[in-house]
Amino acid sequence: MLIEKNVPLRSYNSFGIVARAHTLVRVASEADLQALRADAALAAQPKFVLGGGSNIVLTGDVKPLVLKVEVRGKRLVAETDKAWVVEAGAGEPWHDFVAWTLDQGYPGLENLALIPGTVGASPVQNIGAYGVELQDRFESLDAVDLATGASFTLNAAQCAFGYRDSVFKHRGEGVNMGLEGRALITRVRFHLPKNWKPVLGYLDLEKKMAATGVQQPTARQIFDWICEIRRAKLPDPQVIGNAGSFFKNPTVSAEQCADIIAREPRVVYYQLANGSMKLAAGWLIDACGWKGKTVGNAGVFEKQALVLVNRGGTDNPVTGGEVMTLAKAIQTSVYERFGIRLEPEPVVV
Ligand code: EPU
Repeated sequence: MLIEKNVPLRSYNSFGIVARAHTLVRVASEADLQALRADAALAAQPKFVLGGGSNIVLTGDVKPLVLKVEVRGKRLVAETDKAWVVEAGAGEPWHDFVAWTLDQGYPGLENLALIPGTVGASPVQNIGAYGVELQDRFESLDAVDLATGASFTLNAAQCAFGYRDSVFKHRGEGVNMGLEGRALITRVRFHLPKNWKPVLGYLDLEKKMAATGVQQPTARQIFDWICEIRRAKLPDPQVIGNAGSFFKNPTVSAEQCADIIAREPRVVYYQLANGSMKLAAGWLIDACGWKGKTVGNAGVFEKQALVLVNRGGTDNPVTGGEVMTLAKAIQTSVYERFGIRLEPEPVVV
């Protein structure tokens, strides 16, 4: 186990924010965690688990001990008549894992192509895109309880998945035990049924089908389309720092939605199974005139108002404070105009 001090985190967060970890330990296996526990001083410290850094805003140096998850490996763990079960180490880049499953002939994750971050972070916020959420393909995961050192396995129900939400985003006690700050995910397994069916009910995908004339796309074709769609409207973090969607799409009651439609007939919304309505946060922000705006070195992406970006590049990178100042200004104007409180999606550290 290598203990590193005063480690720059700029290349470890997709916003490209400058900050340092006071102490950082790389976790490549459960053995590294056992070694950590054997060191009394380290074991006692508060800890922060860092995955791909694609869903965080660093507002200063990180004082808790940073555990950088680097567990690798991808493999088929089971095959039945009905499904493949595949597993990846938490430190594997998510997109590479999706591409690997398709190369092996296991379809099912193609709609989730090109989402930044690591496999280990994917269950934390139950990543989702183009009609598929991680929970739809999830089998189980292995994790280590940082408080006790015990390894454990969770199934989907135990992960308590919700929209960009899971047990890993909550603190709690007893039966509602939240695992925020407590669990380090080491491996994740996915259940990919052999009777694969394409998930195409999204406007952007329907447009691709119409444009190409391909009505029965393969998983590989969908993967390629998703990559094209995302590249066309989302900034590549390698080029422009960002953390994907900065706000969750808010849910409102049918009455509240009707009230907004009466005032703003063009508002974009979707009806949920329980009768409530989900509003497109990107539309709300855009309607308040934020698209393309810049405050300090933080900006609202020109092609998608839901994404906040680092306008300072590597020469004069945005600070976490600037990102949060812009986020608060957006929240205030959306609240004043629509009466809706937008909730940030990334974790603010
Ligand atoms: N819209 C605007 N102006 C904008 C942005 C969006 O009018 O500046 C409108 C669009 O025209 C569209 C609607 O708002 O009618 C929704 O926009 P879009 O489909 O681009 O985004 P979304 O549905 O809000 C969600 C996820 C994305 C995911 C896409 C595709 C959230 C917070 N975001 O965006 O996830 O890729 O659907 O499934 O749920 C992420 O979480 O980081 C992320 C990128």
